[in-house]
Amino acid sequence: METRLLKGCEESYAEAARLLLAGEVVGIPTETVYGLAANALDPQAVKKIFEAKGRPQDNPLIVHIADLAQLDLVASRVPESVYRLADAFWPGPLTMILPKSDRIPIEVSAGLDTVGVRMPAHKAAHRIIELSSPLAAPSANTSGKPSPTTANHVFEDMTERIPLIIDGGRCTVGVESTVVDMTGDTPRVLRPGAITEEMIAEVLGDADTDIATKKGLKKGEKPKSPGMAYRHYAPKAPIILYEGAPEDTFRRICEEYNKEDGIICFDEYKAAFKELGFKRVYSLGPSWDHRAHDRRLFAVLRRFDSTKAVRIHAQCPREYGAGEGSVNRLRKSAGFVCVRCTEKTIIGLTGGSGSGKGFFCRLLAEERPDIRVIDTDAVYHGLLEDPQSGLTEALLAVFPTAGNDGRIDRKALAAVVFSDSEKLAVLNRIAHAAVIAACREEIDACPQPIVLLDVPLLFQSGMDRMCTMTVGMLADREVTLRRIISRDNLTRAEGEARLQNQPQDKYYLSHCDLTVKNNGKAEDLEKAAAVFASKYLI
Ligand code: TXA
Ligand code: MG
Repeated sequence: METRLLKGCEESYAEAARLLLAGEVVGIPTETVYGLAANALDPQAVKKIFEAKGRPQDNPLIVHIADLAQLDLVASRVPESVYRLADAFWPGPLTMILPKSDRIPIEVSAGLDTVGVRMPAHKAAHRIIELSSPLAAPSANTSGKPSPTTANHVFEDMTERIPLIIDGGRCTVGVESTVVDMTGDTPRVLRPGAITEEMIAEVLGDADTDIATKKGLKKGEKPKSPGMAYRHYAPKAPIILYEGAPEDTFRRICEEYNKEDGIICFDEYKAAFKELGFKRVYSLGPSWDHRAHDRRLFAVLRRFDSTKAVRIHAQCPREYGAGEGSVNRLRKSAGFVCVRCTEKTIIGLTGGSGSGKGFFCRLLAEERPDIRVIDTDAVYHGLLEDPQSGLTEALLAVFPTAGNDGRIDRKALAAVVFSDSEKLAVLNRIAHAAVIAACREEIDACPQPIVLLDVPLLFQSGMDRMCTMTVGMLADREVTLRRIISRDNLTRAEGEARLQNQPQDKYYLSHCDLTVKNNGKAEDLEKAAAVFASKYLI
């Protein structure tokens, strides 16, 4: 069978729909990964998907729809909560498990009485469904291989097995949809993805995640989702996964001396790995950028199949919030075995001035006596006050006019760097290095297993790379304004000017693993601290 590859356009969508209605299988783009689609209501067509993929018959398929009316066609009962999630996240990378209707053949559900339903956002997928019917579609890879995120990946796996692939460009999300089971009392994530447990809980009040997504299945355990049972996403060479703070995973991988091994790393370490002589070094993006990790992961895994790497060492992203998707896929590809590189839980808490970070730290410390709180501003000021500290010496060497009797005069130092961005950058570099070293020492020496670092410039200072979790405080603008006006004795205009220079919520939302909202009510923040401690500090 010849496999045609057509660019996405109205004509090619019509051709795809024609083939699908004739019972054929077509490779289609979605925003998550490419899908191998067939008419979900046609059992003979669906069988062809399993043949093309070499997929075990007991692994059910997701049904893709283009409008909400089709939900009643595929599901027999749709709870109200499903409409609320659909309202928030459809079209998009979320699959909901529902009781299936009689219209869905057992070939799709693999004998289960439930069905996974998703409304994809990619315009090609949307249009092709509109022109044909609800489509059953697994990821368009050969079973066991990494999912395809470009039309060429599909072509590699499916040449001569299917008649048509529609090229809709590179997938913007890059890992498969979040699968959430909506048949129980609490929505339960069975496969993490771009729509996080936290995002679902924000809409419905509650959600949890099946532990098998993190630890794999226990021996003999029956999976909640059949896909959990299969080895997946595996390049030909075995992956060794290093978990922990990026600095620690970097250092640990450096101890490996076989330069023929492949490396999966973060942008911050790519040059350093190359300098060490490693030849095959691929980056997932900046260590904080989970969306980049999702986008790049499968393409990186596939790349290793065309190299001679015998082992692949991978820095694992942080596993919270938007990090859960790529971490789950990496763990699956490594068979849930990992090298732990950071002993303690090290949380970097950041947020604007007046956001309530300090208060949240105190609340968490009350919740959990085994937390050590380190206020990095206080560490910095302590180092400045101490004439014996290396920091004083280092700064006086560069800024001699800021010295007064062997100490740093903070006002004089501020005046030197105030209008000179180069000098400010030098100051920051020296100061951050000293604070990082002091914190390192305190973290290693303290008996507590959990360390909470209160860091105003968490990412700008690079301290995020010491952390196993990053958390951003999001405060209501008016609340913040009132707090800094009264705390620092400012006029409203001065307060507003200061807020102007601070990053907005979207900065923290994109950079941090998790965020906590502060609406200015102490009792709400107390509740948030209790929930945070019970969920993430176990
Ligand atoms: O993003 C995606 O979801 C992509 C694109 C093409 O939409 N599709 C995809 O399908 O990843 P697939 O077949 O590769 O993965 C579907 C996963 C499997 O792990 C399967 O076990 C699970 O969803 N699943 C499907 N139906 C289920 C059901 N009724 N109950 C529990 N798990 C189900
Ligand atoms: Mg798949």
